[in-house]
Amino acid sequence: MTNAHETRLARSWEDNADAWTAAVREGAIASRGAGTDAAIVAACAAALPSLDDAPVLDVGCGEGWLARALAAHGARVLGVDASAPLVAAARAAAPEASAEADGASGRSRMRFEVATYETLVADPTCAAGPFALVVLNFALLAEDAAPTLSACARRLAPGGRVIVQTVHPWAVVGDGPYASGWREETFATFAVPFPATMPWFFRTLADWHAMLDAAGLRLVRLHEPLHPETRRPLSLLLVTEPIGTR
Ligand SMILES: C[S@@+](CC[C@H](N)C(=O)[O-])C[C@H]1O[C@@H](n2cnc3c(N)ncnc32)[C@H](O)[C@@H]1O
Repeated sequence: MTNAHETRLARSWEDNADAWTAAVREGAIASRGAGTDAAIVAACAAALPSLDDAPVLDVGCGEGWLARALAAHGARVLGVDASAPLVAAARAAAPEASAEADGASGRSRMRFEVATYETLVADPTCAAGPFALVVLNFALLAEDAAPTLSACARRLAPGGRVIVQTVHPWAVVGDGPYASGWREETFATFAVPFPATMPWFFRTLADWHAMLDAAGLRLVRLHEPLHPETRRPLSLLLVTEPIGTR
């Protein structure tokens, strides 16, 4: 169900689309260069015998960097995102991508569509797949993400995986109580000015695990990429498969 936080969250990705695109493409998000970009690409590559020709769904693809990285490894990637300006930026950076080309049938390495998670949940024909991998990179920001994850699981081919990278809860807990709840991202550390702040839902490790369970997903592997110098966790990376598939 959409609440006031989620309405503002969705709007922030329209308002911040240009700033976000610049931040990603100019390397202004330090944790990405320090390891989270490499970690999600490595986790995708490790989840399959080969990425070559593998159908991949990038959910909450933003400006499309991960789709481009996976396509460079041979994957056929469909990226979906609610933010029309971010999808436009993704298409513009992938000249062979078009709204018409069918990423699942091999005519294009990359395709991007405007679609909300709510549409993925409600409409099985949207980004129907099946996909060998569904990947969500820092893209689960709402309170109840279980329906979105279930919708991802339903789009998997047999043996497929859903891979989530997210904020490591222990890295941002600060001095406050360790409890799930809404927080506000100001983007102040991003070295690029952002016009809007963004509400996002902080989730404890136990609540991440419970949410996977509610979504019908089982944890196959948990990675904690570390900063190469400080050895502090950069992110939490969850490799999952539908419960009952082995
Ligand atoms: C932090 S950005 C990450 C983008 C991209 N995955 C990356 O690694 O750069 C979060 C993305 O999730 C998308 N998003 C958040 N909630 C969404 C929803 N309910 N439906 C579709 N996209 C959503 C936003 O539009 C935004 O592009």
